[in-house]
Amino acid sequence: MKGITLTAPKRLRGVIEVPGDKSISHRSVLFNAIATGSAHITHFLPGADCLSTVACIRALGVTVEQPAERELIVHGVGLGGLREPADVLDCGNSGTTLRLLAGLLAGHPFFSVLTGDASLRSRPQRRIVVPLRAMGAQIDGRDDGDRAPLAIRGNRLRGGHYELSIASAQVKSALLLAALNAEQPLTLTGRIDSRDHTERMLAAMGLEITVTADQITLQPPSEATAPTALSLRVPGDPSSAAFWWVAAAIHPDAELVTPGVCLNPTRIGAIEVLQAMGADLTVMNERLEGSEPVGDVVVRSSTLRGTTIAGTLIPRLIDEIPVLAVAAACASGETVIRDAQELRAKETDRIATVAAGLSAMGAVVEPTADGMVIVGQPGQLQGTTLNSFHDHRLAMAWAIAAMVARGETTILEPAAAAVSYPEFWQTLAMVQEAA
Ligand code: S3P
Repeated sequence: MKGITLTAPKRLRGVIEVPGDKSISHRSVLFNAIATGSAHITHFLPGADCLSTVACIRALGVTVEQPAERELIVHGVGLGGLREPADVLDCGNSGTTLRLLAGLLAGHPFFSVLTGDASLRSRPQRRIVVPLRAMGAQIDGRDDGDRAPLAIRGNRLRGGHYELSIASAQVKSALLLAALNAEQPLTLTGRIDSRDHTERMLAAMGLEITVTADQITLQPPSEATAPTALSLRVPGDPSSAAFWWVAAAIHPDAELVTPGVCLNPTRIGAIEVLQAMGADLTVMNERLEGSEPVGDVVVRSSTLRGTTIAGTLIPRLIDEIPVLAVAAACASGETVIRDAQELRAKETDRIATVAAGLSAMGAVVEPTADGMVIVGQPGQLQGTTLNSFHDHRLAMAWAIAAMVARGETTILEPAAAAVSYPEFWQTLAMVQEAA
């Protein structure tokens, strides 16, 4: 699909079961691969990123059955049971696959090489390579280990203490996975406030992990605390649901419901921001599914005002900033996004690409070193041709902007959405009622 052309519909209505959470889907495969026993995973996200993880894990000698598109059976090989892959491991577009595998493989006594597509090969890896080397890992790569391909000669690792300087769940998880093969406990302090699915899942698998407000400690597994297989239903992805929340909030005649979405506190900054902007957003039926809180979210047409998105909120909504920027462009008044320099290290430089796209639609947007300032005005977006630059979240954010833009919006490379949301375009067609 080369390009897709959209116009604003008269109405948006629907109940949308969003696909399984991307972060939890990756972890359900990676962690169960090294567990004892077999795990049955349902509502797995069959997006390109998670399928990269499945392919790499199979290449490491693990049997993963896929009896249905969203269902996996992972036959764990136990701690230390992975075997040397016969070829380079291709992580595709997925930073989570590459960084979590790097941590896991650093402690396995064999050679492996991790690579990915042009976007992934351009992203910074020193953030994992430096602390993993401090734990004794032998890792090398382009630019002294800062860019993939990364070559790993696995060996015995040390635990110790590491202070995280960026709030990244990929870095945190890479180090915790490395620590599964370390001789001493690993303690992490500093910016541990990123999404905590790894901590929750490892604890549910029986590992000894203690989490307080300012530190995480993982004990080296003993026979009694070796990970055991964990079957689970993956909750809906709040990062995917956020597209529908914004669509409903900015469209003048809308009501969209997203049932069964993960409401983990480390993931729902977008709900808080939309409510602060005045969105008619209600969370219902909050419940616990496995180790994650979930609930149903209803959003109706709203009158939005500008806000500030900064500080510790940022890691709790980092992937939602492209679509929140669309909401800000449709709100009254200024929205300031700061402390979000991490956006520059995503699938694209999302400060540059989001600001350029919204500007092309007629919004006044000023990119800054660590965010952007958006001067919002309801009704200001004008349809145009926008590039997704193969970035899934950009492709989908532009589709949501098109729901309220004047005239036609054409999005190039829309197939990028399949990285995290394979049925996005079909669902978009389903919720629109003709103009
Ligand atoms: C993820 C962590 C985040 C997020 C990414 C998924 C994860 O990245 O942007 O989409 O599953 O651990 P960082 O760790 O780089 O912040």
